[in-house]
Amino acid sequence: MTLVSIKNLTRVFDVSKPWLNRVIERLPKRMLTAVSDVSFDIEERSVYALVGESGSGKSTIGKMVVGLLKPTEGTVEIDGTDLMKASGSEIDRIRSDIQMIFQDPFASLNPRWKVRNIITEPVAARGGDTKGLAEKLLEQVGLSAQDAGKFPHEFSGGQRQRICVARALASEPRLIVCDEPTSALDVSVQAQVLNLMSDLRDEFGLTYLFISHDLTVVQHMADRIGVLYLGRLVEEATPDELFSNPQHPYTKMLIEAAPKMDGYGREVTPPQGEIPDPINPPTGCAYHPRCPIAIARCSAERPPLATKGKGRVACFRAGEMT
Ligand SMILES: Nc1ncnc2c1ncn2[C@@H]1O[C@H](COP(=O)(O)OP(=O)(O)OP(=O)(O)O)[C@@H](O)[C@H]1O
Ligand SMILES: [Mg+2]
Repeated sequence: MTLVSIKNLTRVFDVSKPWLNRVIERLPKRMLTAVSDVSFDIEERSVYALVGESGSGKSTIGKMVVGLLKPTEGTVEIDGTDLMKASGSEIDRIRSDIQMIFQDPFASLNPRWKVRNIITEPVAARGGDTKGLAEKLLEQVGLSAQDAGKFPHEFSGGQRQRICVARALASEPRLIVCDEPTSALDVSVQAQVLNLMSDLRDEFGLTYLFISHDLTVVQHMADRIGVLYLGRLVEEATPDELFSNPQHPYTKMLIEAAPKMDGYGREVTPPQGEIPDPINPPTGCAYHPRCPIAIARCSAERPPLATKGKGRVACFRAGEMT
């Protein structure tokens, strides 16, 4: 069953200078398209990973999925209901079905609150029963019940991210959007938190939208991976297909640039070329200036995201590099 259905999602930001400066300096408005015509589905109880370099639009998509940001165009449907068209009571229900975990576990916990209050606040705000809830959740995320009486500064980074996970679980969500939840952590701690999240998914039947700039982080966890480039989906496939047979030259470059979790003695090719300016994106395929196999057509025409095998790819020369 499809839990999340994203259709033609687009978000444009007005990044113009303040009005008065613009008028005096006779500058036009500057519009930045952060997300452009992105469509994908997330099956219930699966993990969908979005990957891409900095600025590719990952967080913007995540925020639209949880309703923190309004789409300029397109829709996000949760269980068949359009987030932006839902009525009052539907919105409350959908909101509690979706939780978000952010990259920085330091910034997202109120330093003046005890862990018990941090975890139970979303439930208390809805008038739910919070007795013993924090203690139970702390144990479920691998901390101890006594930790409920402590403050955030008494914990390490990995432990704080566990507290964030506990807080997200408190609302008994169906979908958790994780925006780089482990990228601020040491590699060994990262793996522990990822394992925890996998276990919780099995235990509670959760669905994840997992955002990361690092393909290796999502390789073992995701059921499907969507690769973003400058706000557009350029490839989508299962991790096995993506790693064994990447179709888009950008995906191939990302894989070659990714350090291997298990590996040493393998040379890593750093990402080649610069990310273009999203306010003035290249014509045709936005990747063409960096692409080693681009042809004339690639700068003239944008390749559509087309079904190929069990995945999708937007490239006129898909598969020709492997
Ligand atoms: N509120 C905003 N106002 C203006 N521009 C924004 C805003 N939020 C994001 N952007 C721009 O939109 C683009 C996509 O940003 P986004 O944060 O979604 O990227 P990201 O893939 O999450 O990057 P990172 O890996 O650095 O977190 C960037 O060019 C960014 O500068
Ligand atoms: Mg981001």
